[in-house]
Amino acid sequence: MTVRHFLTLQDFSQAELQQLLVRAIELKKGERFQPSAKTQHKTLGLIFEKASTRTRVAFEVAMNQLGGNSIFLSSNDTQLGRGEPIEDTARVLSRMVDIVAIRTFSHETLTRFSQAASIPTINALSDDFHPCQLLADIQTFIEKCGDIKGKQVAWIGDGNNMCHSYINAARQFEFTLRIASPENYTPNQALLSQNKPWVELVKTPEDAAKNANLIVTDVWASMGQEGEQKKRQQQFFAYQVTQNLLDLAAPDVLFMHCLPAHRGEEVSAAVMDDPRSAIWDEAENRLHAQKALLEFLLIQEN
Ligand code: CP
Ligand code: NVA
Repeated sequence: MTVRHFLTLQDFSQAELQQLLVRAIELKKGERFQPSAKTQHKTLGLIFEKASTRTRVAFEVAMNQLGGNSIFLSSNDTQLGRGEPIEDTARVLSRMVDIVAIRTFSHETLTRFSQAASIPTINALSDDFHPCQLLADIQTFIEKCGDIKGKQVAWIGDGNNMCHSYINAARQFEFTLRIASPENYTPNQALLSQNKPWVELVKTPEDAAKNANLIVTDVWASMGQEGEQKKRQQQFFAYQVTQNLLDLAAPDVLFMHCLPAHRGEEVSAAVMDDPRSAIWDEAENRLHAQKALLEFLLIQEN
């Protein structure tokens, strides 16, 4: 059987993504969960080249709750940090653990690992995509507002890894995505062109927010871009998500942010605490969505 990976949302069919979110919601309610031989005593390897709170904790707790365990491998502490090829690491880990999640800079590291591995590989964030976060975001939207199909989503800020995953999500979940980014910080052009019917670049945050059902933002400088922080603060100045911006949206709009957030930069402190903000449920859903993802991939495997 071909090994399944989850490097972007495009690795799963629309039906599989829907099924996975139904399962995440079920697991959250504690429904239909029986310890399964397919997940018990299984081991998840976590290779992280960047910092993480939510993604790492969600994976470790999820694996534990499924009856398995995980091993955290900081790249500084493994031979990867001393130059061992990623393909060799993939071949060795495939003989010892059952599934791997990788947080890395270059997306190519993930594709190379997955091509050499004989176990499922999950993208725990790369410079280009953050698909695990989207599972939690869409789960949160469904729980609070129902199906996201046909809805309007506004992305305000950097055309980064999160924005790219929102573009993929727009196609997979069939919603309209309006993106407002400063010049020179728009998302990948090829990805935009491939997903044209679902995605529109607009001029201002107000254009994006108008009538939106969901408004999303993220930090102005992602991990690895710390040196650009000052320059970006100036260029993104007009892109803060404020309560005034939420007021332009649909009356039942939700605000989401993958976190960590910088209050007073991409989002005002008031929006973080606004009743329209779904950020804490969104963060909690990382656990339920990633548990459903691990279960899905481990069950495919055995
Ligand atoms: N949103 C997110 O991925 O958070 P962490 O960086 O804490 O994992
Ligand atoms: N765009 C952010 C997301 C953090 C979860 C980053 O890559 O740092």
